[in-house]
Amino acid sequence: MKFPFFPHQASTVAEQTDYLYFGLTCLSGLMLLIIFIPMIYFLFKYRRGKPANRQPVHLPMFAIEITWTIIPTVLMMGFFAWGAKHYFTIERTPPNAMEINVIGKQWMWKIQHPEGNREINELHVPVGRIVKLTLASQDVIHSFFLPEFRIKQDVVPGRYTTEWLKAKSEGTYRLFCSEFCGTQHSGMIGHVVVMEPGEYEQWLIHGQPSSTLVQEGERLYRELGCSGCHAGQSAVRSPPLEGVFGKPVPLQSGEIVIADEGYIRDSILLPAKQIAAGYTNDMPSFQGRVSEEELLSLVAYVKALAHK
Ligand code: CUA
Repeated sequence: MKFPFFPHQASTVAEQTDYLYFGLTCLSGLMLLIIFIPMIYFLFKYRRGKPANRQPVHLPMFAIEITWTIIPTVLMMGFFAWGAKHYFTIERTPPNAMEINVIGKQWMWKIQHPEGNREINELHVPVGRIVKLTLASQDVIHSFFLPEFRIKQDVVPGRYTTEWLKAKSEGTYRLFCSEFCGTQHSGMIGHVVVMEPGEYEQWLIHGQPSSTLVQEGERLYRELGCSGCHAGQSAVRSPPLEGVFGKPVPLQSGEIVIADEGYIRDSILLPAKQIAAGYTNDMPSFQGRVSEEELLSLVAYVKALAHK
């Protein structure tokens, strides 16, 4: 169902989001009427100088109190349950998503496709495919806002945030930055182009990237000297990277963490933060030496090693 004043519903979650917002708006409107109509009525009825009956009236106060406590509580808990259910749908990326990286920087959106294609302020996606977006910021807090997809997510320096979308129909939709991020914040806008899967393939081929994201990551892995220690036969004892992604990693501190994108990123920039059990802290930090784009390709490479 479409609602007036709401943007076009370009994603599969948009309709549910709209129902929730529309429901909340109706409930708020109803509460407004219930409170304001009697208020305005009494304002006139008991105006100073008006001959109204001002004797105290005895009402069943206990029953009234109970009623106006329980009804709104039940209503609000209902909305809470509905909202929570929808929140989980939005926040949990379904399996088998294709992955696209988004990097926010003053003042543009940089997009990386796994095939190696890159774009600026444009995001091409195929219709009907689940797309997982990994969002990173190179400088300050930005906010990735796709109104037609009902997606708004802060992009925070120092960590990854994720979102997913499944486009329902072809077309060109709007992309905004919705967090004030400096003088040209208002210019940090672009488009999402939803294409037929075949057309999208053509578009990817037409872009002719020299290497995929994983190949790019592998090149950096050698260039930065990571392979010197992490390759199997090296003299330095370091955690092997093959098969590590997505698995639990026991740490020296006794904690166990999952080796996700954020963990890989932290291990490159802040190697002393979480040391794998059985190893010493010998790795230098790469903070300031690699850009967010390079980091994401290194992460893609480590991810690819998980399947080796
Ligand atoms: Cu980036 Cu506002």
